[in-house]
Amino acid sequence: MTKVVTVNGSPRRKGNVDALLRVAEEELEGLGVEVERISLSDYNVKPCEACDVCSENAWECPLDDDAVPLLRKLVEADALIVGSPVYFGGVTAQLKALIDRSAIPYQKSELRGKIGAAISCGGGRHGGQELTVNQIITFFLMHEMTVASGEEGVFGAMGVANDLGDIASDEEALSSSRALARRVAELLREKGA
Ligand SMILES: Cc1cc2nc3c(=O)[nH]c(=O)nc-3n(C[C@H](O)[C@H](O)[C@H](O)COP(=O)(O)O)c2cc1C
Repeated sequence: MTKVVTVNGSPRRKGNVDALLRVAEEELEGLGVEVERISLSDYNVKPCEACDVCSENAWECPLDDDAVPLLRKLVEADALIVGSPVYFGGVTAQLKALIDRSAIPYQKSELRGKIGAAISCGGGRHGGQELTVNQIITFFLMHEMTVASGEEGVFGAMGVANDLGDIASDEEALSSSRALARRVAELLREKGA
């Protein structure tokens, strides 16, 4: 069965990015797509230490944490939807740590050809949502993945919400998130996944 893995880079398990991912997940499940969520707040992913061990033996990372099992889930997925709050104009440190540790599957291009979609949420209207989405898209492109655009050429779903629950009043962000999920499903169908 086609599987989409969603990743929430927020330390707040039930925050605004969670809500944007949740509507995307519901949309996909309604279309018969299996979804698995990774909330990085539940895991310990250390920053890459550039030891270069993975460049010799891809999956033999000496760091003792949750990165390897999480990266295996990404490799087994057909598509990824990655969401992050905006932290100082970019992704959270939690998500950046996982992105850097993706040097492991990068060694043998194990994410190549998968579909990727990006979501961000910032407290300010011009708080860096596009930069954050772009950072996630750059991660996809470095892995030679296919980027899913949302509706009307928007290149991801972006919310404006600060406090817990504020996202409920950003109907545009919720609807872009649903549209992004439909685009992911469409690309998966076109790919024959
Ligand atoms: C350390 C930190 C840095 C932040 N930096 C920004 C920022 O640069 N731009 C912005 O719009 N919001 C910023 N915010 C606000 C969060 O992006 C916002 O509260 C978001 O809704 C959090 O998503 P979450 O509920 O999924 O954790 C920051 C919040 C924190 C804690």
